[in-house]
Amino acid sequence: MEPAQTEPQWTIAKVLSFAAADFGKRGLEAPRLEAELLLGHELQMSRMQLLLDANRPLKKDELARFRALIERRRSGEPSAYILGKKEFYGREFRVDRRVLIPRPETETLVDVALARTRPRSLAGRALDVGTGSGAIAVTFARERPTWQVTALDKSEDALAVARDNALRLGAVWGFRLLQSDLFSALKPAERFELIVSNPPYISREELTTLDKGILDFEPRMALDGGEDGLDFYRALVKGAPPHLTQGGVLAVEIGADQGPAVEELFKSAGFVDVELTRDYGRRDRVVSGKKPALKT
Ligand SMILES: C[S@@+](CC[C@H](N)C(=O)[O-])C[C@H]1O[C@@H](n2cnc3c(N)ncnc32)[C@H](O)[C@@H]1O
Repeated sequence: MEPAQTEPQWTIAKVLSFAAADFGKRGLEAPRLEAELLLGHELQMSRMQLLLDANRPLKKDELARFRALIERRRSGEPSAYILGKKEFYGREFRVDRRVLIPRPETETLVDVALARTRPRSLAGRALDVGTGSGAIAVTFARERPTWQVTALDKSEDALAVARDNALRLGAVWGFRLLQSDLFSALKPAERFELIVSNPPYISREELTTLDKGILDFEPRMALDGGEDGLDFYRALVKGAPPHLTQGGVLAVEIGADQGPAVEELFKSAGFVDVELTRDYGRRDRVVSGKKPALKT
């Protein structure tokens, strides 16, 4: 058998130092971690295995493929797209350029959705508007396995990714995917105890200042919230009530500076018990409220 071709000068330790230094110079926030994740992906090794095998030389083809991954990252492509996955609420979601990469801040929206529906945790119907990768809907379905969950998106591409995640992560029973422009594909009589949404909320002005990795790679349809970033909130507070049960909850993710404006929209539309919730970074992140229950 031919001995495997190696480039002895490029060990795991050396390529990691090289890539981390390069990423550091380019201003990445966690250069060493990103280098380890990319190399681990290429070599199918955990970060711990990379450490234990630090002196193993890379084969020529491994090195070439790792260089290609570094190039993609250098061009601004987010690591999650290169790796094809992103962790959300302790589960691994598949992601690619058809969907927004789920953000850790969005876990706060799931927390609020769970907390505000706790009194009826045994049975209910939830709707996720603009599901993207399915991160919120699939997580909610797994945390509340006896609920029926509908996940809708305008993008067929996004729905294909959400379907894959739902099947892989076991959100199957009572889980429905629907292509819909906001509420348009729902039957008029359909009602939910919970409607959640992390809608596009970037204003036109902010869109021009976004990080290149977001602007060049993430779907524009997942970002653009109209001139002042509030278009979807206006549509949601208007369109949600006919599809909410009495006392049903609407909970939306917001940009950190949109709290007062979105709270006002909720109140003007007649929502009660309106709450503003902060994320782990102590920034305003979620507005939620209830459709008033009919007085008897
Ligand atoms: C900010 S992303 C959120 C994705 C995912 N829910 C998450 O939190 O990671 C917004 C999503 O809304 C979808 N979307 C945009 N306009 C829509 C519309 N008019 N009706 C339904 N979905 C829409 C986009 O395709 C995108 O998947």
